Amino acid sequence: MAEPKSHLVIFFLISSIFSIRSLTLSSDIIALKAFKYAIKPASIPPNSCLGTWDFSTDPCSVPRVAHFTCGITCSGSRVVQLTLDSQGYSGTLTPFIANLTRLITLDLTENNFYGPIPFSIFFLPNLQNLILRGNPTFCDLP
Ligand SMILES: *[C@@H]1O[C@H](CO)[C@@H](O)[C@H](O)[C@H]1NC(C)=O
Repeated sequence: MAEPKSHLVIFFLISSIFSIRSLTLSSDIIALKAFKYAIKPASIPPNSCLGTWDFSTDPCSVPRVAHFTCGITCSGSRVVQLTLDSQGYSGTLTPFIANLTRLITLDLTENNFYGPIPFSIFFLPNLQNLILRGNPTFCDLP
């Protein structure tokens, strides 16, 4: 009876691959897109963390081979950490960052974010680490 069993294994393998494809909560994906799109494309080197954020792939799916190779940490279907590399990313921090309601750490160290720090960030219930140092053009708190 080896044959039916192996079919079963293949079935579960395929179904687990498909469930991985839609792992991330859709509102987290939308918020991640908003986060990336608020950063000037010209300031995103192709091999940087943000450069690998390609939304044809599910952000939280592992292993991360070509896409979302860094900058993001998930717990299950939720984004819990955004730690960008220091690439000189230039742009604003979208207020929709607060839609990542499970976010614990936001680290934008040594980049070129400018404009206001969105007030919505202070409503993130789980945020413990907000690291914005080394962004000389970030405005003061509203
Ligand atoms: C963020 O959440 C608000 C409130 O649920 C929703 O109206 C808005 O469309 C969301 N936007 C993004 C970009 O995630």
